[in-house]
Amino acid sequence: MGKYLISGGKKLCGEISVESAKNSVLPILAASTLTDEKVVIKCCPKIADVISLINILNSLGVETAFENENLIINSSGMNNYTIPERLSKELRASVFMLGALISRFKKAEISFPGGCNIGKRPIDLHLKSLKEMGVNSYIDNGFVKCSAEKILAKKITLSYPSVGATENLMLSAVLADGKTEIRNCAREPEIVDLMRFLNTMGAKIYGGGTSTILIDGVKKLHGTVYQPMSDRIEAGTFLIATAITGGELQLNNCNAKNICTLIHKLCDNTCKIAVKNDIIYMRSNGRGKSFNLHTGPYPDFPTDLQSQMAVLASVASGSSTITENVFERRFAYVDELNKMGADIRVKGRTAYVNGVLQLTGTKVRALDLRGGAALIIAGLNAEGITQVSGAEHILRGYLDLDKKFRSLGADIKLIDGD
Ligand code: UD1
Repeated sequence: MGKYLISGGKKLCGEISVESAKNSVLPILAASTLTDEKVVIKCCPKIADVISLINILNSLGVETAFENENLIINSSGMNNYTIPERLSKELRASVFMLGALISRFKKAEISFPGGCNIGKRPIDLHLKSLKEMGVNSYIDNGFVKCSAEKILAKKITLSYPSVGATENLMLSAVLADGKTEIRNCAREPEIVDLMRFLNTMGAKIYGGGTSTILIDGVKKLHGTVYQPMSDRIEAGTFLIATAITGGELQLNNCNAKNICTLIHKLCDNTCKIAVKNDIIYMRSNGRGKSFNLHTGPYPDFPTDLQSQMAVLASVASGSSTITENVFERRFAYVDELNKMGADIRVKGRTAYVNGVLQLTGTKVRALDLRGGAALIIAGLNAEGITQVSGAEHILRGYLDLDKKFRSLGADIKLIDGD
């Protein structure tokens, strides 16, 4: 429980550093359990989703400890392949443990995973492709139970480039006997990061970032020290916030290549952006112009920045359209944004946004992680006080969001209460 109180209208100015990517750290944590040797994840963000996955690892007998920002993982005592229902319901990423557990024990039991309220989020693609690798699964009392006599290295073609299914297949195949090929796999930067991480453990994985990944199974993985990639969604959230409020931002520890679709959109939208090594500099004069946007699997525009862009469209001059092609229920934030004076109508997968001059502060509720971040950004723009409840959704994926915005000059605080 918790809520953000925001007094809007301040320009954002200053410098922040981007954290390690949530969506990279989570599968990497699962992958860390594939060796009995020590693994160190450098700069591991203590966000709620990461803590939930650490709790899951601990429940399976894995020892973990933070040494400052670094997470130390020792899986030599891992002795359990059943994830307790309460813990798997806490986060969607518990599904990655499927691949890791299958690799390690040839067995896995997880209850249907939880996570954001943004659509059905089935795991049929995961189970179907695992079946091709010799993993049988059935549903028993809300649990997915998987087992295999042997993991078969195969050529698998995904019917959709699912990020989670690609990651699970990588985790399942890395210790299999033989060569696995995953076609039509996801090409997200987080897939490349998982490949790099596993390769530092001794895996032989090629082709991450393209639509075919090759995995040459190895007998054993060893310990490693690894720094995950920076969070392109956190970076994008701060860039969009600065585009909306006006101001100047320096983002450190940020790979601009991973968010080039966003950078192009913001440059089209009257922002000035310069990139030098891993630093992005941005200047915005505030109100931009309308645009059309559609989300899709990487390298298309990321669905995780769709709601934040809807806020930008809400205060732009003219009418914009935003089409969501990845998740079917990712417009839940629209009713809340409209309470703040936005003019958005959703029809099917498309939101039609008529820009208004100014949003107005009121009480709104975050219903999911990225939709919640969008409401915060709206509050930074709005006239008067905005109260965003449902902070627990936002805390799943953003570390010190309020503190970072305050350091940029925003008037925002996180307080207890519903
Ligand atoms: C990951 C990210 C999430 C991001 C999403 C898309 C993590 C922890 N989460 O989620 O932040 O928004 O990628 O970039 O990395 N689908 C099926 N059946 C399946 C699997 C997926 O129908 O078995 C559908 C989903 O319902 C969704 C679409 O495929 O409509 C994309 O899902 P997927 O790429 O698997 O996303 P996640 O891995 O869940």
